[in-house]
Amino acid sequence: MNDARPIILKLGGSAITDKAEEAKPRTDIINRLAEEIKRADLDNLIVVHGGGSFGHPTAAKYGIKDGYKEDPTQKFGFAETHHMMTVLNGLVMDALIWHEIPAVSIAPSNCFVTENCKVKFFDETVMKNMAKLIFTPVLYGDVVFDEKLGFTVLSGDQLVAYLALKYKAQKIVIGTDTDGLFDCDPKTNPEAKPFKKLNLKELKELQPKLGKAQGTDVTGGMAGKIAELIPVVEAGIHVTITGATKGLSIYRALTDQSVLGTEIEKA
Ligand code: IPE
Repeated sequence: MNDARPIILKLGGSAITDKAEEAKPRTDIINRLAEEIKRADLDNLIVVHGGGSFGHPTAAKYGIKDGYKEDPTQKFGFAETHHMMTVLNGLVMDALIWHEIPAVSIAPSNCFVTENCKVKFFDETVMKNMAKLIFTPVLYGDVVFDEKLGFTVLSGDQLVAYLALKYKAQKIVIGTDTDGLFDCDPKTNPEAKPFKKLNLKELKELQPKLGKAQGTDVTGGMAGKIAELIPVVEAGIHVTITGATKGLSIYRALTDQSVLGTEIEKA
């Protein structure tokens, strides 16, 4: 039985896909990340990945996040968005399996139900059995049924926060396409300054100032990400945000080594 508190790794959609083009994976990066995960050799890891250019454009096209508006085309949009996510998940799974990681995907649309976009129900039976036998569960931002809205989008960041609080995670590592959090968008502003360390108070002050992501993002970009992290940091869980597109940052962060990025702690 594996009773260890999990380490949760989020692979951001901006890192594993090219957000500038619809449904464009970055397979070289996905492959390298699988190599880093294998090298870290953790038996209590939960992986969650985002949607990037697979999830967001289809979800936006059919207005999935805001719920079912009695428009039958939305039902196809829900199905298509889920399918796009399973295609991206398949690529992530290909890389993990190729690296001989006992990874099995769990589709959030099949075991989570929300109410007004917040998780109301999670069937954890499969997850618990996986933990017992030391598998690596892989979840992803997905469309889910919602008891008030009909359906919505449950982001990878919401999943990370929910699982971290539920299972009292040891720590969270978030891999993005930038080396941590910056005071403004480093992709458009060369003067952008990185935050090396943030405490809860600083994170709360920063949250409303952070911008939306580039490209289509139905789940609120960086500001949305931070909003999800606040309760996690409040619970005393350490969060590292680092670059996942190059180097060994994910391996280093998973194995408690210093990385270029932002460390977030309660105090
Ligand atoms: C989005 O998940 C999933 C869908 C749009 C279906 P995330 O919000 O976690 O994705 P990224 O990491 O921002 O791309």
